[in-house]
Amino acid sequence: MDTITDTRPCTVVRTRDELRAAIGALRSAGRQVGFVPTMGAFHDGHLSLMRHAAADGHAVVVSLFGSPPQFSPTEDLSAYPRDEQRDLALAATAGVELVFAPPAHEVYPDRFGTTIRVDGPTRTLEGATRPDHFAGVATVVAKLLNMVRPDRVVFGQKDAQQVAVVRRMMCDLDFDDVELVIGPIVREADGLAMSSRNVYLSPQERVAALALRRALDAAQATIDGGEHDPRKIERAAHSVLSAEPRCTPDYATIVHPDTFVVADNLAEPSLLCVAARIGPARLIDNQRLTLA
Ligand code: PAF
Repeated sequence: MDTITDTRPCTVVRTRDELRAAIGALRSAGRQVGFVPTMGAFHDGHLSLMRHAAADGHAVVVSLFGSPPQFSPTEDLSAYPRDEQRDLALAATAGVELVFAPPAHEVYPDRFGTTIRVDGPTRTLEGATRPDHFAGVATVVAKLLNMVRPDRVVFGQKDAQQVAVVRRMMCDLDFDDVELVIGPIVREADGLAMSSRNVYLSPQERVAALALRRALDAAQATIDGGEHDPRKIERAAHSVLSAEPRCTPDYATIVHPDTFVVADNLAEPSLLCVAARIGPARLIDNQRLTLA
């Protein structure tokens, strides 16, 4: 075990045995455990999830693990931004007590042969274009929940479809003793949703990326102007994305936030999800739509 000291001590464990011993020590000290699964490259959005995990004095455990199965052959895991020392220092400032940063073989040993495929919210949007992505996410999240056995787990609303998939998986696989907490999207001052992928943007692309925020606002403004047809509202959002020359829109689609079924009216809870490529980065964002 290495100990990193910054604002507060943050213990790093790399094996399941070390993790179990460290969690056992927290439990013996009467602590409840709040868990934040991450792939690192921390920004204020991650730190805000860690603070949510710490509510009511929970000891915060963070996993730092880029899970190979959730990346397709065209999405290079090795290109994901990585700086463990920086992440550990930031985690310490957010009050994290324990970081689980295992090597891949610790999570996926030889002969590993189980995959969790979640039906329902995986059928549309990200699930339609990245068929194995959510199976990778569901499998690693289930494994991490079994390893950490937290009282609370925290995910970010920024990855709204991941939230819906994890919610479905936790319900189907009886993780009902774990409280699922969703942290709101954390935005830069100009409205861009914080994302580890924003570091790939040039200054011009960083400006262009604001089209996603503008698309969400345009949709809500269209509703406020009296339009209730989901397809017309989606078109209003899509045309904002298309109007930005550096932006290649992928989708602007209104779905139910739990099922991710495409909405055919706004009577049900409605979530507008947008995805677009800006230069080298594929960015996503989302917003609940409200009827006046
Ligand atoms: O959102 C992420 O960072 C990842 O998908 C997660 C939940 C850590 C699983 O690898």
